[in-house]
Amino acid sequence: FFTMDDFDFDNKCVYLRIDINSPINPITQEIMDDSRLNSYSETINELSDSKLVITAHQGRPGDDDFTSLKYHSRYLSKLMGREILFIDSLFGSSVDYAVSRMKKGDIIMLENTRFYSEEVSINFNNFNIIENTHIVKNLSKLFDYYIIDAFGAVHRPHTSLIGFKKSGPMIAGRLMEREISMLDKFKYSNQRPKIAILGGSKVSDAVKVSRSFFEKGIVDYILYGGVAANLFLLASGKNIGKRNIDFIKNNNKNYLELIDMARNLIEKYPEKIILPDDFILNPSQKNITLKDNVPDNELLADIGFNSIEKFKDYIKRAKNIFINGPMGMYEINEYSIGTREILDEISNSSAMKIVGGGHTISAVNRFGFRKYMDYVSTGGGALINYLSGDSIPVIDALIENKKMFGD
Ligand code: 3PG
Repeated sequence: FFTMDDFDFDNKCVYLRIDINSPINPITQEIMDDSRLNSYSETINELSDSKLVITAHQGRPGDDDFTSLKYHSRYLSKLMGREILFIDSLFGSSVDYAVSRMKKGDIIMLENTRFYSEEVSINFNNFNIIENTHIVKNLSKLFDYYIIDAFGAVHRPHTSLIGFKKSGPMIAGRLMEREISMLDKFKYSNQRPKIAILGGSKVSDAVKVSRSFFEKGIVDYILYGGVAANLFLLASGKNIGKRNIDFIKNNNKNYLELIDMARNLIEKYPEKIILPDDFILNPSQKNITLKDNVPDNELLADIGFNSIEKFKDYIKRAKNIFINGPMGMYEINEYSIGTREILDEISNSSAMKIVGGGHTISAVNRFGFRKYMDYVSTGGGALINYLSGDSIPVIDALIENKKMFGD
Protein backbone atom coordinates (compact mmCIF):
# COMPACT_ATOMS: atom_id res chain seq x y z
CA PHE A 1 0.00 0.00 0.00
CA PHE A 2 0.91 3.68 -0.28
CA THR A 3 2.70 5.33 2.63
CA MET A 4 3.14 9.01 3.42
CA ASP A 5 6.58 8.87 1.75
CA ASP A 6 4.87 8.49 -1.63
CA PHE A 7 3.21 11.94 -1.75
CA ASP A 8 3.81 15.62 -1.14
CA PHE A 9 1.02 17.09 0.98
CA ASP A 10 2.10 20.73 0.74
CA ASN A 11 -1.03 22.90 0.52
CA LYS A 12 -3.16 19.85 -0.32
CA CYS A 13 -6.53 19.11 1.20
CA VAL A 14 -6.05 15.92 3.19
CA TYR A 15 -8.64 13.64 4.80
CA LEU A 16 -7.17 11.89 7.84
CA ARG A 17 -9.15 9.08 9.51
CA ILE A 18 -7.77 8.29 12.95
CA ASP A 19 -8.93 6.10 15.85
CA ILE A 20 -9.18 8.08 19.06
CA ASN A 21 -12.00 5.95 20.48
CA SER A 22 -11.13 6.19 24.18
CA PRO A 23 -12.44 5.07 27.55
CA ILE A 24 -14.84 7.83 28.68
CA ASN A 25 -15.99 8.58 32.21
CA PRO A 26 -19.75 8.00 31.95
CA ILE A 27 -20.56 10.77 34.42
CA THR A 28 -18.22 13.61 33.50
CA GLN A 29 -17.71 12.53 29.86
CA GLU A 30 -13.99 13.10 30.37
CA ILE A 31 -11.43 11.10 28.40
CA MET A 32 -9.93 8.63 30.90
CA ASP A 33 -6.91 7.60 28.86
CA ASP A 34 -5.21 9.64 26.15
CA SER A 35 -2.88 7.00 24.69
CA ARG A 36 -4.66 6.87 21.37
CA LEU A 37 -4.75 10.64 21.09
CA ASN A 38 -1.02 10.73 21.83
CA SER A 39 -0.19 8.28 19.10
CA TYR A 40 -0.97 10.64 16.22
CA SER A 41 1.69 13.30 16.77
CA GLU A 42 4.01 11.98 14.07
CA THR A 43 1.31 11.80 11.41
CA ILE A 44 -0.19 15.19 12.27
CA ASN A 45 3.20 16.92 12.50
CA GLU A 46 4.18 15.59 9.11
CA LEU A 47 1.02 17.08 7.65
CA SER A 48 1.64 20.53 9.07
CA ASP A 49 1.82 22.16 5.63
CA SER A 50 -1.45 20.64 4.40
CA LYS A 51 -5.09 21.57 4.99
CA LEU A 52 -6.00 18.78 7.32
CA VAL A 53 -9.49 17.43 8.05
CA ILE A 54 -9.68 14.75 10.72
CA THR A 55 -12.46 12.19 11.16
CA ALA A 56 -12.90 9.55 13.87
CA HIS A 57 -15.51 7.63 15.87
CA GLN A 58 -16.26 7.29 19.58
CA GLY A 59 -18.27 4.47 21.16
CA ARG A 60 -21.27 2.68 19.75
CA PRO A 61 -24.88 3.92 19.58
CA GLY A 62 -26.65 3.28 22.86
CA ASP A 63 -23.49 3.04 24.96
CA ASP A 64 -22.40 5.49 27.66
CA ASP A 65 -19.23 6.33 25.76
CA PHE A 66 -21.06 7.29 22.54
CA THR A 67 -20.17 10.98 22.67
CA SER A 68 -19.40 13.95 20.46
CA LEU A 69 -15.80 14.46 19.38
CA LYS A 70 -15.86 18.02 20.68
CA TYR A 71 -13.83 17.04 23.75
CA HIS A 72 -11.45 14.95 21.70
CA SER A 73 -10.73 17.89 19.41
CA ARG A 74 -9.93 20.13 22.39
CA TYR A 75 -7.76 17.46 23.95
CA LEU A 76 -5.87 16.80 20.72
CA SER A 77 -5.43 20.51 20.17
CA LYS A 78 -3.80 20.83 23.61
CA LEU A 79 -1.58 17.80 23.09
CA MET A 80 -0.39 18.98 19.69
CA GLY A 81 -0.16 22.66 20.58
CA ARG A 82 -2.14 23.44 17.42
CA GLU A 83 -5.51 25.06 16.94
CA ILE A 84 -8.19 22.60 15.82
CA LEU A 85 -11.56 23.85 14.63
CA PHE A 86 -14.36 21.46 15.57
CA ILE A 87 -17.40 21.23 13.26
CA ASP A 88 -20.39 19.48 14.75
CA SER A 89 -21.32 17.53 11.62
CA LEU A 90 -19.60 15.10 9.30
CA PHE A 91 -20.68 16.57 5.99
CA GLY A 92 -22.95 19.21 4.51
CA SER A 93 -22.84 22.97 4.05
CA SER A 94 -21.07 23.82 7.32
CA VAL A 95 -18.27 21.39 6.46
CA ASP A 96 -18.04 22.56 2.83
CA TYR A 97 -17.86 26.18 3.95
CA ALA A 98 -15.22 25.56 6.63
CA VAL A 99 -13.06 23.51 4.28
CA SER A 100 -13.34 26.10 1.50
CA ARG A 101 -11.89 28.73 3.87
CA MET A 102 -8.97 26.60 5.06
CA LYS A 103 -5.42 27.82 4.70
CA LYS A 104 -2.21 25.81 4.69
CA GLY A 105 -1.54 24.55 8.25
CA ASP A 106 -5.19 24.63 9.36
CA ILE A 107 -6.78 21.64 11.08
CA ILE A 108 -10.48 20.80 11.29
CA MET A 109 -12.05 17.91 13.18
CA LEU A 110 -15.48 16.64 12.12
CA GLU A 111 -18.18 15.00 14.26
CA ASN A 112 -18.27 11.33 15.36
CA THR A 113 -18.69 9.28 12.17
CA ARG A 114 -20.98 6.86 14.04
CA PHE A 115 -23.60 9.57 14.57
CA TYR A 116 -24.50 8.69 10.95
CA SER A 117 -26.15 5.35 10.17
CA GLU A 118 -24.36 5.04 6.83
CA GLU A 119 -21.09 4.64 8.70
CA VAL A 120 -21.94 1.19 10.06
CA SER A 121 -25.38 0.02 8.93
CA ILE A 122 -25.09 -0.74 5.23
CA ASN A 123 -24.15 -3.75 3.17
CA PHE A 124 -20.37 -3.62 3.11
CA ASN A 125 -20.15 -6.43 0.56
CA ASN A 126 -21.43 -4.08 -2.12
CA PHE A 127 -19.01 -1.23 -2.80
CA ASN A 128 -21.58 0.51 -5.04
CA ILE A 129 -23.64 1.18 -1.96
CA ILE A 130 -20.65 2.43 0.02
CA GLU A 131 -19.47 4.84 -2.66
CA ASN A 132 -22.99 6.19 -3.04
CA THR A 133 -23.44 7.02 0.63
CA HIS A 134 -23.97 10.66 1.52
CA ILE A 135 -20.77 10.46 3.53
CA VAL A 136 -18.61 9.49 0.55
CA LYS A 137 -20.44 11.59 -2.04
CA ASN A 138 -20.19 14.75 0.06
CA LEU A 139 -16.68 14.33 1.44
CA SER A 140 -14.98 13.03 -1.69
CA LYS A 141 -15.60 16.41 -3.37
CA LEU A 142 -13.24 18.03 -0.91
CA PHE A 143 -9.97 16.08 -0.80
CA ASP A 144 -6.80 15.39 -2.75
CA TYR A 145 -5.64 12.54 -0.52
CA TYR A 146 -7.13 10.11 2.01
CA ILE A 147 -4.83 9.04 4.81
CA ILE A 148 -6.10 6.17 6.89
CA ASP A 149 -4.26 5.94 10.20
CA ALA A 150 -7.00 4.37 12.32
CA PHE A 151 -5.11 1.19 13.15
CA GLY A 152 -7.53 0.48 16.02
CA ALA A 153 -10.38 0.17 13.54
CA VAL A 154 -8.73 -1.63 10.60
CA HIS A 155 -10.92 -4.67 11.18
CA ARG A 156 -14.10 -2.63 10.59
CA PRO A 157 -15.20 -2.25 6.96
CA HIS A 158 -16.91 1.05 7.79
CA THR A 159 -17.70 3.84 5.34
CA SER A 160 -15.26 6.47 6.65
CA LEU A 161 -12.48 3.87 6.61
CA ILE A 162 -12.83 2.14 3.24
CA GLY A 163 -15.38 4.31 1.38
CA PHE A 164 -12.84 6.51 -0.44
CA LYS A 165 -11.06 3.56 -2.02
CA LYS A 166 -11.96 4.78 -5.50
CA SER A 167 -12.00 8.52 -4.81
CA GLY A 168 -8.26 9.17 -4.83
CA PRO A 169 -5.00 7.88 -3.35
CA MET A 170 -5.66 6.18 -0.02
CA ILE A 171 -2.53 6.14 2.11
CA ALA A 172 -1.48 4.36 5.31
CA GLY A 173 -0.49 6.86 8.01
CA ARG A 174 2.61 6.67 10.20
CA LEU A 175 0.86 4.94 13.11
CA MET A 176 -0.42 2.25 10.79
CA GLU A 177 3.11 1.59 9.48
CA ARG A 178 4.54 1.43 12.98
CA GLU A 179 1.85 -0.92 14.29
CA ILE A 180 2.21 -3.32 11.40
CA SER A 181 5.98 -3.53 11.62
CA MET A 182 5.94 -4.11 15.41
CA LEU A 183 3.12 -6.63 15.37
CA ASP A 184 4.75 -8.59 12.56
CA LYS A 185 7.64 -9.28 14.95
CA PHE A 186 5.22 -11.15 17.22
CA LYS A 187 3.25 -12.73 14.41
CA TYR A 188 6.26 -14.21 12.67
CA SER A 189 8.32 -15.11 15.75
CA ASN A 190 9.04 -18.81 16.17
CA GLN A 191 9.86 -18.57 19.87
CA ARG A 192 7.42 -20.87 21.69
CA PRO A 193 5.23 -21.12 23.65
CA LYS A 194 3.29 -18.14 22.34
CA ILE A 195 0.28 -17.20 24.40
CA ALA A 196 -2.62 -14.81 24.02
CA ILE A 197 -4.55 -13.48 27.00
CA LEU A 198 -7.99 -12.29 25.96
CA GLY A 199 -10.35 -10.50 28.32
CA GLY A 200 -12.55 -7.41 28.39
CA SER A 201 -16.18 -7.16 27.46
CA LYS A 202 -16.13 -7.24 23.62
CA VAL A 203 -16.40 -11.00 23.26
CA SER A 204 -17.42 -11.31 19.65
CA ASP A 205 -13.97 -10.46 18.23
CA ALA A 206 -12.26 -12.65 20.81
CA VAL A 207 -14.27 -15.75 19.94
CA LYS A 208 -14.05 -15.22 16.20
CA VAL A 209 -10.27 -14.84 16.07
CA SER A 210 -9.60 -17.71 18.48
CA ARG A 211 -10.30 -20.27 15.77
CA SER A 212 -7.76 -18.67 13.40
CA PHE A 213 -5.19 -18.49 16.18
CA PHE A 214 -5.44 -22.23 16.78
CA GLU A 215 -5.93 -23.38 13.19
CA LYS A 216 -2.98 -21.39 11.92
CA GLY A 217 -0.84 -22.23 14.93
CA ILE A 218 -0.29 -18.52 15.68
CA VAL A 219 -0.53 -19.12 19.42
CA ASP A 220 -0.19 -22.25 21.53
CA TYR A 221 -2.58 -21.29 24.33
CA ILE A 222 -5.24 -18.69 24.92
CA LEU A 223 -5.96 -17.66 28.51
CA TYR A 224 -9.43 -16.14 28.79
CA GLY A 225 -10.60 -13.61 31.36
CA GLY A 226 -13.44 -11.08 31.49
CA VAL A 227 -16.62 -11.73 29.57
CA ALA A 228 -14.82 -13.92 27.00
CA ALA A 229 -14.10 -16.42 29.78
CA ASN A 230 -17.74 -16.33 30.86
CA LEU A 231 -18.86 -17.15 27.33
CA PHE A 232 -16.55 -20.17 27.07
CA LEU A 233 -17.63 -21.37 30.50
CA LEU A 234 -21.27 -21.05 29.52
CA ALA A 235 -20.57 -22.91 26.25
CA SER A 236 -18.94 -25.73 28.23
CA GLY A 237 -22.11 -26.16 30.29
CA LYS A 238 -21.11 -24.28 33.46
CA ASN A 239 -23.70 -22.31 35.39
CA ILE A 240 -22.42 -18.73 35.36
CA GLY A 241 -25.58 -17.16 36.81
CA LYS A 242 -28.35 -15.06 35.29
CA ARG A 243 -26.66 -11.63 35.45
CA ASN A 244 -23.63 -12.87 33.56
CA ILE A 245 -25.68 -14.68 30.93
CA ASP A 246 -27.87 -11.58 30.47
CA PHE A 247 -24.80 -9.39 29.98
CA ILE A 248 -23.63 -11.58 27.10
CA LYS A 249 -27.12 -11.79 25.60
CA ASN A 250 -27.80 -8.07 25.82
CA ASN A 251 -24.51 -7.06 24.25
CA ASN A 252 -24.31 -9.61 21.43
CA LYS A 253 -27.17 -10.04 18.99
CA ASN A 254 -25.46 -13.15 17.63
CA TYR A 255 -25.07 -14.66 21.07
CA LEU A 256 -26.28 -18.17 20.14
CA GLU A 257 -23.87 -18.29 17.24
CA LEU A 258 -21.02 -17.19 19.55
CA ILE A 259 -21.86 -19.95 22.02
CA ASP A 260 -21.82 -22.50 19.21
CA MET A 261 -18.45 -21.25 18.01
CA ALA A 262 -17.04 -21.38 21.53
CA ARG A 263 -18.38 -24.92 22.05
CA ASN A 264 -16.78 -26.15 18.81
CA LEU A 265 -13.46 -24.65 19.84
CA ILE A 266 -13.60 -26.30 23.26
CA GLU A 267 -14.25 -29.67 21.61
CA LYS A 268 -11.45 -29.23 19.10
CA TYR A 269 -8.77 -27.57 21.24
CA PRO A 270 -9.51 -28.52 24.86
CA GLU A 271 -5.88 -28.35 25.98
CA LYS A 272 -5.24 -24.94 24.37
CA ILE A 273 -8.19 -23.10 25.90
CA ILE A 274 -7.32 -22.05 29.44
CA LEU A 275 -10.25 -20.80 31.53
CA PRO A 276 -10.50 -19.43 35.06
CA ASP A 277 -12.11 -21.72 37.60
CA ASP A 278 -12.74 -19.29 40.40
CA PHE A 279 -14.01 -15.73 40.58
CA ILE A 280 -14.61 -12.72 42.78
CA LEU A 281 -18.28 -11.78 42.82
CA ASN A 282 -19.88 -8.37 42.67
CA PRO A 283 -21.53 -7.11 44.84
CA SER A 284 -20.75 -9.65 47.60
CA GLN A 285 -16.93 -9.71 46.96
CA LYS A 286 -16.90 -13.46 47.73
CA ASN A 287 -14.33 -15.73 46.07
CA ILE A 288 -16.21 -18.73 44.61
CA THR A 289 -15.32 -21.67 42.41
CA LEU A 290 -17.57 -22.71 39.58
CA LYS A 291 -18.52 -25.86 41.44
CA ASP A 292 -20.65 -23.52 43.55
CA ASN A 293 -23.73 -21.98 42.02
CA VAL A 294 -23.35 -18.37 40.96
CA PRO A 295 -26.26 -16.48 42.56
CA ASP A 296 -28.47 -14.79 39.99
CA ASN A 297 -27.78 -11.27 41.28
CA GLU A 298 -23.97 -11.55 41.25
CA LEU A 299 -21.51 -10.56 38.51
CA LEU A 300 -18.29 -12.47 37.92
CA ALA A 301 -16.27 -9.32 38.49
CA ASP A 302 -12.70 -10.62 38.55
CA ILE A 303 -10.80 -13.90 38.22
CA GLY A 304 -10.13 -15.59 41.56
CA PHE A 305 -6.87 -16.47 43.35
CA ASN A 306 -6.52 -20.04 41.97
CA SER A 307 -7.05 -18.79 38.45
CA ILE A 308 -4.42 -16.09 38.92
CA GLU A 309 -1.88 -18.77 39.94
CA LYS A 310 -2.87 -21.02 37.05
CA PHE A 311 -2.49 -18.16 34.52
CA LYS A 312 0.85 -17.16 36.03
CA ASP A 313 2.26 -20.64 35.29
CA TYR A 314 1.51 -20.21 31.60
CA ILE A 315 2.94 -16.70 31.57
CA LYS A 316 6.19 -17.89 33.24
CA ARG A 317 6.79 -20.45 30.50
CA ALA A 318 5.85 -18.23 27.54
CA LYS A 319 8.37 -16.75 25.09
CA ASN A 320 5.84 -14.48 23.35
CA ILE A 321 2.84 -12.97 25.11
CA PHE A 322 0.13 -10.63 24.12
CA ILE A 323 -2.71 -9.41 26.26
CA ASN A 324 -5.86 -7.74 25.06
CA GLY A 325 -8.61 -7.04 27.57
CA PRO A 326 -8.67 -6.82 31.38
CA MET A 327 -9.50 -9.85 33.55
CA GLY A 328 -12.35 -8.09 35.32
CA MET A 329 -13.77 -4.76 36.42
CA TYR A 330 -10.29 -3.32 36.93
CA GLU A 331 -11.62 0.24 37.30
CA ILE A 332 -12.94 -0.71 40.75
CA ASN A 333 -10.19 -1.38 43.24
CA GLU A 334 -11.78 -4.51 44.79
CA TYR A 335 -11.99 -6.17 41.37
CA SER A 336 -8.66 -5.09 39.94
CA ILE A 337 -6.44 -7.76 41.53
CA GLY A 338 -6.70 -10.28 38.69
CA THR A 339 -5.76 -7.71 36.04
CA ARG A 340 -2.95 -6.27 38.18
CA GLU A 341 -1.44 -9.65 39.09
CA ILE A 342 -1.49 -10.85 35.49
CA LEU A 343 0.08 -7.62 34.23
CA ASP A 344 2.68 -7.84 37.01
CA GLU A 345 3.63 -11.39 36.00
CA ILE A 346 3.86 -10.36 32.34
CA SER A 347 6.08 -7.42 33.33
CA ASN A 348 8.48 -9.81 35.08
CA SER A 349 8.71 -12.13 32.10
CA SER A 350 11.58 -12.01 29.62
CA ALA A 351 9.20 -12.91 26.77
CA MET A 352 8.30 -10.46 24.01
CA LYS A 353 5.31 -8.62 25.49
CA ILE A 354 2.62 -6.87 23.49
CA VAL A 355 -0.38 -5.10 24.97
CA GLY A 356 -3.46 -3.75 23.23
CA GLY A 357 -7.03 -2.53 23.67
CA GLY A 358 -8.28 0.76 25.11
CA HIS A 359 -9.06 -0.60 28.58
CA THR A 360 -5.94 -2.76 28.80
CA ILE A 361 -3.76 0.23 27.91
CA SER A 362 -5.61 2.26 30.49
CA ALA A 363 -4.96 -0.47 33.11
CA VAL A 364 -1.29 -0.77 32.12
CA ASN A 365 -0.85 3.00 32.49
CA ARG A 366 -2.82 3.23 35.69
CA PHE A 367 -0.97 0.43 37.48
CA GLY A 368 2.45 1.56 36.20
CA PHE A 369 3.34 -1.39 33.95
CA ARG A 370 3.79 0.47 30.67
CA LYS A 371 7.56 0.71 30.92
CA TYR A 372 7.92 -3.09 31.09
CA MET A 373 6.06 -3.81 27.87
CA ASP A 374 7.84 -4.22 24.54
CA TYR A 375 5.03 -2.69 22.56
CA VAL A 376 1.75 -1.05 23.44
CA SER A 377 -0.53 -1.24 20.42
CA THR A 378 -3.40 1.20 19.95
CA GLY A 379 -5.49 -1.68 18.59
CA GLY A 380 -7.79 -3.94 20.57
CA GLY A 381 -10.04 -5.93 18.25
CA ALA A 382 -7.83 -4.72 15.40
CA LEU A 383 -4.75 -6.12 17.08
CA ILE A 384 -6.18 -9.59 17.58
CA ASN A 385 -7.68 -9.64 14.10
CA TYR A 386 -4.37 -8.55 12.59
CA LEU A 387 -2.42 -11.17 14.51
CA SER A 388 -4.94 -13.88 13.60
CA GLY A 389 -3.89 -13.63 9.96
CA ASP A 390 -7.49 -13.15 8.78
CA SER A 391 -8.10 -10.65 6.02
CA ILE A 392 -8.40 -7.08 7.29
CA PRO A 393 -10.87 -4.84 5.40
CA VAL A 394 -8.95 -1.57 5.69
CA ILE A 395 -5.61 -3.12 4.74
CA ASP A 396 -7.27 -4.87 1.79
CA ALA A 397 -8.76 -1.54 0.68
CA LEU A 398 -5.34 0.16 0.92
CA ILE A 399 -3.78 -2.57 -1.19
CA GLU A 400 -6.55 -2.36 -3.82
CA ASN A 401 -6.27 1.41 -3.89
CA LYS A 402 -2.56 1.26 -4.70
CA LYS A 403 -3.35 -1.03 -7.63
CA MET A 404 -5.85 1.56 -8.89
CA PHE A 405 -3.78 4.70 -8.29
CA GLY A 406 -0.31 3.20 -8.45
CA ASP A 407 0.98 5.54 -11.13
C1 3PG B 1 -11.70 -0.24 19.18
O1 3PG B 1 -11.70 0.46 20.20
O2 3PG B 1 -11.46 -1.46 19.20
C2 3PG B 1 -11.94 0.42 17.86
O3 3PG B 1 -12.02 1.80 17.98
C3 3PG B 1 -13.16 -0.14 17.20
O4 3PG B 1 -14.26 0.05 18.01
P1 3PG B 1 -15.51 -0.93 17.90
O5 3PG B 1 -15.12 -2.26 18.47
O6 3PG B 1 -16.63 -0.25 18.62
O7 3PG B 1 -15.81 -1.07 16.40
